[in-house]
Amino acid sequence: MSSQGVTIWFTGLSGSGKSTIARILEKKLRGMGRNVEVLDGDVIRTNLSKGLGFSKEDRDTNIKRIGFVCHLLTRNSVIAIASAISPYRNVRDYNRSLIGNFVEVYAKCSIEECEKRDVKGLYKKARAGEITGFTGVDDPYEEPLHPEVICQTDRETPGQSAERVMKKLEELGYLNPAEHSVQ
Ligand code: ADX
Repeated sequence: MSSQGVTIWFTGLSGSGKSTIARILEKKLRGMGRNVEVLDGDVIRTNLSKGLGFSKEDRDTNIKRIGFVCHLLTRNSVIAIASAISPYRNVRDYNRSLIGNFVEVYAKCSIEECEKRDVKGLYKKARAGEITGFTGVDDPYEEPLHPEVICQTDRETPGQSAERVMKKLEELGYLNPAEHSVQ
């Protein structure tokens, strides 16, 4: 059976759980025999986007680069999973048009909860003024208006979120239902 490629695009605040859910999905989809590639903002910024900062212009460049790679992978039947804050709606929409097979997943989590988690200690630094232009603190985050999936990561487990994304992929015809149900 031929499999369609698709890009699963995670957006959300730092610490909202994007990468955690992305890694769970990666495992599930590989287990089904699919070719999967995860493009994680933190990782991409150490290679493909090395040297870019966090101005609007640099973020847009970063997101367009990730989108371009997702486009190449998707058209070759790969499931590309992007996990980057991607705070600006119009660049996410630009990638949606470029790629076509695009499933936007909003990792929705209150700023209070992200700050409480503060996995990398960056919110603390941003509040102390040691980092400026931090998303959600003194830099904008534009919520998606019509994401395919919203994961309420302060109310559900990463496993539950991943399962809801799987259901949506199945619903949209990107997975073979029989394959999914045996997982
Ligand atoms: S994006 O805005 O261009 O989509 P990306 O997801 O690649 O961002 O990188 C975000 C990560 O960079 C955060 O999770 C955090 O670890 C780190 N970071 C460092 N400075 C900032 C900042 N000013 N705003 C947001 N994240 C930052």
